[in-house]
Parts: sequence; C-alpha cells; structure tokens
Amino acid sequence: MNLLNNTNGVSRVEGVALPAIADHFGTPCYVYSRAALTAAYACYQAALVGHNARICYAVKANSNIAILNLFARLGAGFDIVSGGELARVIAAGGDPAKVVFSGVAKSRAEMQQALAAGIHCFNVESASELEQLNTVAATMGQRAPVALRVNPNVDPKTHPYISTGLKTAKFGVAFATAKELYRRAHALPNLEVCGIACHIGSQLLDPQPAADAAGKVLELVDSLAAEGIVLEHIDLGGGMGIRYRDEVVLPTADYLAPMLERLAGRQEMLYFEPGRSLVGNAGLLLTRVEVLKHGEEKNFAIVDAAMNDLARPALYDAWHEIVKVGAGGTAQPLQYEIVGPICESGDFLGHDRNLALAEGDLLAILSAGAYGMAMSSNYNTRPRAAEIMVDGEQMHLIRRREEIAQLFALESVLP
Ligand code: LLP
Repeated sequence: MNLLNNTNGVSRVEGVALPAIADHFGTPCYVYSRAALTAAYACYQAALVGHNARICYAVKANSNIAILNLFARLGAGFDIVSGGELARVIAAGGDPAKVVFSGVAKSRAEMQQALAAGIHCFNVESASELEQLNTVAATMGQRAPVALRVNPNVDPKTHPYISTGLKTAKFGVAFATAKELYRRAHALPNLEVCGIACHIGSQLLDPQPAADAAGKVLELVDSLAAEGIVLEHIDLGGGMGIRYRDEVVLPTADYLAPMLERLAGRQEMLYFEPGRSLVGNAGLLLTRVEVLKHGEEKNFAIVDAAMNDLARPALYDAWHEIVKVGAGGTAQPLQYEIVGPICESGDFLGHDRNLALAEGDLLAILSAGAYGMAMSSNYNTRPRAAEIMVDGEQMHLIRRREEIAQLFALESVLP
C-alpha cells in the first residue's frame, strides 16, 4: 500500500491533504495512517491463519500510545525491552498477559515491575540474568515465566548494526550452552520454563536465514523435550524488512512461508515480534524547506527536520525516499543535499536528490514510521516533532509538539 496518494496535484495520506496537516500542526511532524497500520497487521494475521500464533508488536519501532492502542484493539501482544515500554503498553490498554520482555539485561526493578504486571514471558539472554530473575521472583513469592533467547549463529545478511544472530553479537545465549542453561532454569524453584526465543536481525529481505534459524531452534526444542523439558511456545522474533528504495520485499505471507513450513504440525504456540514491517511504511516525516543554499559544489535544501527527528540516515546511512508535496512552482530540478539545521556534517536526511524546490515547499520523508520518532532526541535543544494520525478524513494529534520550556524543566542550577 502506498502511503501517499496524489490527486489534482495534492498529496494526501488517506483523505487528508498534507498541506492541511502542516498548516494545522506545523512542521516538522510525523504523519501516520491508521488504514496502513491496520493493513500491515492484517497481512500478518492472514499469513498466520491456521496456526496457533500471537503477534507481539515490537514497541521499540514506534511507541506512541495511539499506535500501541490500535494494535491492542486488533488483538496484538507486545514485545518490550524496558519497564518504560511496559508502562506504555499498559497505558495504551495493552494486555500484559500478551507481553514478552526482550533485552540483554533487565534491571531488578524492571523484573519486579513485569512480574507484578503478570507478563507472559521473560526472554532471558544470559546465565546471570536467569539467576537474578529467580532471586527477584523468589522475593515476590512468584515463579517467573522464562524463555531463553538463543543465538543460532545464522547470518541474516543485513546491515551490521542491526544484525543480531551471529556468534559475535552481544545478543542471546550461545547455542552450545543453551541446553545446559535450560537445565539450570528448569531446576531453579522460582522459574517456570515456558518457551524459547530467537531474533536474528532487522530489515531482513531473504526469508531463508530466519527459516534456517527456526530449524535450528526446533532441533533444540526437540532435544530438550527428550530430557523432559517441554516448551509451550516458540518465539521467532521480528525482522521482516520493508521497501525503502528499490528493495525486493516479499509479501508478509511469502516471507513467513519457509519458516512456517518448518513449523508445520508443531504443538507449540508461535510468537512473532514484528516492528518495522507493521509501522515503517505507515508513517512519513513532513518537513518544510527553510533555506536553499547553492554552494560551490553542492546545492543544499535546509529543512526544518533534522537528524534529531530522524536519525536513521546519519546513523546507518539509511536511504529514505523524499518527495515534494504537491506540484506547481516554477523551480528547476537540481541535485540537492537535504539537510537539517543541526551543527553536524552528519545531519543529512538525503543525498543527491533531484528535486525542483522553492523555499517554503513541503517535503515528505517516506518510510519513517519505524525507528523514526522512537529514536528522536532533543539534540541542539530542539523540541521533538508532533505526531498526527490520519483516519479517513480525520486528523488526530497523537503527540503534541514539545515546548522549549519542557526541555530543561527537569534541570536545576547549583545553589
Ligand atoms: N525483537 C527483538 C528482540 C528485537 O531486537 C527487534 C529489533 C525486534 C523484535 C523488531 O525487529 P523489526 O521487526 O523491527 O526488524 N534502529 C534500527 C533497527 C533496530 C532493530 C532492533 N531490534 C533501524 O532503524 O533500522
């Protein structure tokens, strides 16, 4: 589904014109489409028909509570990585009983919080964490539900910063030691072994590595069962990629098919933790051209969004499509560096974009729904952008633009 539709020279998300959003809420702002979010979720649901499966949206991709609430209403569970994300899920009306808690090191306070909330499972990533969780659960008189996140040593063939399933990664427990750790978990009185988890990386386009990882996980599950350690669920993580530029992206059902083939006929409930593929292409960053500057070698379009709003280009050299909103104007197309006002050479949103621009034009930076707002910062004391959800003809402000006074409200000077 294409997020932007252009009719009579006006760019719209669903039934709402982007210039109307800019006029009403100002720029920069994130704009999401309820229909696109719902459609992406529906693709997973359709792909999983006939399987005993749960979709746990990876909150880190976009944690706005309106988005969490939408997924909760659609029946989703959630994959969280902090106590903060758990609080958001609960505030958004999510069911803690459908929450899995990932992450390489949870604090004791987070363990307590999650135990008190009654989450479905802790995805434990080390021997120490296992012992700590057992101790925390004991002090609360509870048994903590656990899965081990295993590292299958499969190359996901993605950007090194977002590849997590290789031996060299900090994530998961090594396959070779997983069985031993399961025995330990099984023996600890305040743990309840319930599953296994595996997540090999993000923005994966080839379905084979995830299917191979699932195959390795199944071997482990079966050999544990032979010892009397029976798991109730298999969590296959997230990772399915989206189209940013010209990537060949399989439909959700086709991406999941090789994995589901390996899992056919299994008794265990299947868990998935998709993030990017549910929200990435359902959101854009709307920004206005402040200044056009023609340098000796480069033309710069300095816009009011920056790396603090969308860090992916600066951080991963990620490519996001940038389109001019609306037609018209008399400007000639030129190669532009699309940059923000921040004092860093790395503050760019796109290189060498061929656009016909005038100051005051609006630009839409596409595929920004995932890891956009969620990774934003206040660098240069810039208030975070507003977020707007479009629903048919309606636009809803789902996060107000931050006010400058809020940015230093928690600070104080020495007496
Ligand atoms: N489960 C676990 C344990 C994860 O670590 C992640 C993402 C997910 C699920 C969701 O993965 P997804 O379906 O979104 O690929 N900031 C980077 C992406 C970091 C991904 C971190 N983990 C980016 O902007 O590309």
